[in-house]
Amino acid sequence: MAEKKWWSDGVIYQIYPKSFQDSNGDGIGDIPGIIGRLDYLKDLGIKGIWLSPVYRSPQDDNGYDISDYQDIDPMFGTLSDMERLIQEAGKRDIRIIMDLVLNHTSDEHPWFQEAKKSKDNPYHDYYVWRDGEEGVLPNDLKSAFSGPAWTYVPELKQYYFHQFSVKQPDLNWENEKVRQAIYEMIRWWMDKGVGGFRLDVIDCIAKEPDRMITGNGPRLHEFIRELSRETFQRDSQILTVGETWGATPEIAKKYSNPDGSEFTMVFQFEHSGLDQEGGCKWDLAPLDFRKLKQVLAKWQKELHGQGWNSLFWDNHDLPRIVSRWGNDKEYRVESAKMLATVLHGMEGTPYIYQGEELGMTNVQYSLEEYRDIELLNLYKERKAAGYPEEEIMESIYAKGRDNARTPMQWDTSEHAGFTTGTPWIKVNPNYTKINAASQIADPDSIFSYYKALVQMRKDHTVFQNGEFTLLFAEDPDIFAYVRENDEEKALVFCNFHETTRDVEVPEGFAEEELFLCNYKERDLGTLKPYEARIYLKKKG
Ligand code: NOJ
Repeated sequence: MAEKKWWSDGVIYQIYPKSFQDSNGDGIGDIPGIIGRLDYLKDLGIKGIWLSPVYRSPQDDNGYDISDYQDIDPMFGTLSDMERLIQEAGKRDIRIIMDLVLNHTSDEHPWFQEAKKSKDNPYHDYYVWRDGEEGVLPNDLKSAFSGPAWTYVPELKQYYFHQFSVKQPDLNWENEKVRQAIYEMIRWWMDKGVGGFRLDVIDCIAKEPDRMITGNGPRLHEFIRELSRETFQRDSQILTVGETWGATPEIAKKYSNPDGSEFTMVFQFEHSGLDQEGGCKWDLAPLDFRKLKQVLAKWQKELHGQGWNSLFWDNHDLPRIVSRWGNDKEYRVESAKMLATVLHGMEGTPYIYQGEELGMTNVQYSLEEYRDIELLNLYKERKAAGYPEEEIMESIYAKGRDNARTPMQWDTSEHAGFTTGTPWIKVNPNYTKINAASQIADPDSIFSYYKALVQMRKDHTVFQNGEFTLLFAEDPDIFAYVRENDEEKALVFCNFHETTRDVEVPEGFAEEELFLCNYKERDLGTLKPYEARIYLKKKG
């Protein structure tokens, strides 16, 4: 029998360290702050923490610009704080998943500092350079954060390539030395006892900019297999999750091949782009709900037995799901629970992004109150292109990454208990109403509901490996599916919208088999606004 992996029934919680818990009053979350909140996470029942980057970094992109992979940024603490976090989490059966940013470093990384000194510096070839004249770019490739993907270094008469900010030069994976240096660094973290890694924009590492290839380059899987062989495969219980914006199910089957040759799972984003016009996240469109069901069902079917899904609505780059596809006003509680139900009933490993378990919402700040480089660049770019102010702000309110980055709302004290100082980004003013303290002990809270879902996945194998069948595929409101294995059968039956819907429970499930519901009372033959139910029965 195949060895059981801890993530087959475990849920992961993502921490964005800057915004989770400050312990020293400087307004920035830190590692000791996280340690102080481990019991909260233990209570929620999660088995792993994905920690967004805490390495040394000038913070141009909040830590996704690393200047030392083997040290902790002083604003987050020290390496010994990190070691203590790994240990303290371990005592609570929680593993720490580090965020590995391997596509690029910071321009302040010693490798880049050396690389830009001269063309014959041993580190020059750690990055991607092209000869050229000032003002004549090698090509039209754009940075994901606006502007060109090339920046000129006059002393070298060369451009360096950066898919993200100018302060995030792309590493050259064609260079064997780069790859070996990375593997060594990963083994060092594995020796420290981390439980896994999330691999930032990993599908971009095999770029071939001369052929305009950024994602899914020809050597991508060769590189990943080598990476996996040299590092992760030393320990079969290391979780690895690749961030892959360009994955199709076919590609994801390679990435998460059960033979363990690449990763254990990937984040794919097909569902996440269904409320945008064309390829641009800032161009808003209403959610195509039927398409959402189709897309999620496709991934469930395709990866069953042949790969492994990561299940998520939220992360630090996405707006809050309750504001996005739920209703963050009169049905905030109901819709947050419904969205959680739809997600946690599926096959794969669910991820909860900090505050999602409380139903935290998006914000609408004035421009000066935002901090994110992507958002601020977008504003400038669209302003210069003549977009009306209101339209730009609408996009920012809907999709800006700072929606997810406001401080965690712990209690009703000043700054929501996040800090005693001035928070680096303003706290969502609704913290007096939405906070952990008011939810932990309340059996009807969103927090308690998440707790029940997390426990459900541990107790019932059908949620770990049951086959998935979508029901009501064409229905404009109902999201329903069945999961079934040899032992159990479950029905997830949800109203995705705020209109009451007349609809019968699909045959074969009875009221006494109701396992979980977000309403105390149910009506026969209808689902209330955002009503979510799970029915569960033993077979034979
Ligand atoms: C994806 C990360 O999730 C995002 O926050 C970051 O800006 C880019 N990769 C660049 O590292």
